[in-house]
Amino acid sequence: MALKITVIGTGYLGATHAAAMAELGFEVLGLDVVPEKIETLSAGRVPMYEPGLEDLLAKHVAGIEGSSGRLRFTTSWEEVGAFGDVHFVCVNTPQKHGEYACDMSYVDAAFASLAGVVRAGALVVGKSTVPVGSAERLAALLPEGVDLAWNPEFLREGFAVQDTLRPDRIVVGVRGSGERAEKTLREVYAGPVGEGTPFVVTDFPTAELVKTAANSFLATKISFINAMAEVCEAAGGDVAKLAEAIGHDDRIGAKFLRAGIGFGGGCLPKDIRAFMARAGELGADQALTFLREIDSINMRRRGQMVEMAREALGGTTFLGRRVAVLGATFKPDSDDVRDSPALNVAGQIHLQGGQVTVYDPKGMENARRVFPTLGYASSALEAVRGADVVLHLTEWREFRELDPAELAGVAAARVLLDGRNALDGERWRAAGWTYRAMGRPTA
Ligand code: UGA
Repeated sequence: MALKITVIGTGYLGATHAAAMAELGFEVLGLDVVPEKIETLSAGRVPMYEPGLEDLLAKHVAGIEGSSGRLRFTTSWEEVGAFGDVHFVCVNTPQKHGEYACDMSYVDAAFASLAGVVRAGALVVGKSTVPVGSAERLAALLPEGVDLAWNPEFLREGFAVQDTLRPDRIVVGVRGSGERAEKTLREVYAGPVGEGTPFVVTDFPTAELVKTAANSFLATKISFINAMAEVCEAAGGDVAKLAEAIGHDDRIGAKFLRAGIGFGGGCLPKDIRAFMARAGELGADQALTFLREIDSINMRRRGQMVEMAREALGGTTFLGRRVAVLGATFKPDSDDVRDSPALNVAGQIHLQGGQVTVYDPKGMENARRVFPTLGYASSALEAVRGADVVLHLTEWREFRELDPAELAGVAAARVLLDGRNALDGERWRAAGWTYRAMGRPTA
């Protein structure tokens, strides 16, 4: 009999995981404590923008015409307990208010509820990003005869579907010999493993650490190149050329070396902070003090973008000046504005008296909710109309495809600051724009 799978928590990670498990051929039941989410998902709709996810859901959600019917959603823990052979816990672990540590209350609540309903012989699999040591503690909450495995997730927003169906590695943390848990997860992931995805088996703490180490490494790469951007600014170098040149060394690699206004989102910033907090608790804080510097290089980028804009406007004040901001999400192909560098820069300029008008292809609704006092336009052209300076802060394809000549016709001044090093400076200059990018004074 094929395994029956439940997915607890249907945010980014959970909704994608549930749809992917159905795509792999399993019967899947997703649970969330928010009834509206369950209603939306049950109708085959996704509460966020993620390319490909809605199609995958519609392909499998029961009750949708032509679907496989393998995917259902519920708010009932009893139903989840009775249904599942394997339960994936995918709830989020945000940063605690006023602290670096992450908030484990959703994970703790999910395990407490699950412990009351899970069948003997079932396997619980943690996917949430948690401080090292959590799995050991959570295992003790489960009834006798119920195994726990820790299986961190590495999906990127914007690529969630492909990262889940074809991950670049599967990491499984088990306790003791963990044979049964490993065997079950090999069955679950037989598809991707059969296609060559490496399957790495570790103990609990290593599996938990793999996740935070990976995100810390990515954050470090970005802050490294942004530190080089600062030096390039001072020395008159070109960080984009520098990144291209060092990226040819395959020990370094070209990815994640895009200098600009830095990283944001719901993962990298909070994960490095939670990692520092946890290392402190373990008495290993010295090992991670460098992450404090990674964080501060990153946060400094936002201020530097604000200063670049001020300089472009004559160097004194934003009062009465019109600033167009292209991009509000923390990265393209997402509607997520959590800790978005773009929105942060827009907000800072607004708070200093600038008249900021934002346009984003998918993030308008979320941005408005977080920052209702900013101006919002219905297109890039409308945002740029009458602007004294234009800031490109999220590298959507739509912005690369803009016609610089058309925008030149509506802007009050033709000054473009590229906070993502993603536009073709030559094209913009040819249309009469002053084009400046971060870390490229000579470009
Ligand atoms: C990140 C990791 O990349 C995933 O592997 C991980 O699973 C996920 O966090 C998570 O922990 O759930 P994500 O937050 O979707 O994924 O975004 P990234 O693609 O990593 O980008 C993060 C930020 O870095 C964005 O703001 C992006 O604009 C910025 N970035 C990225 C740069 O500034 N420069 C670069 O070269 C690359």
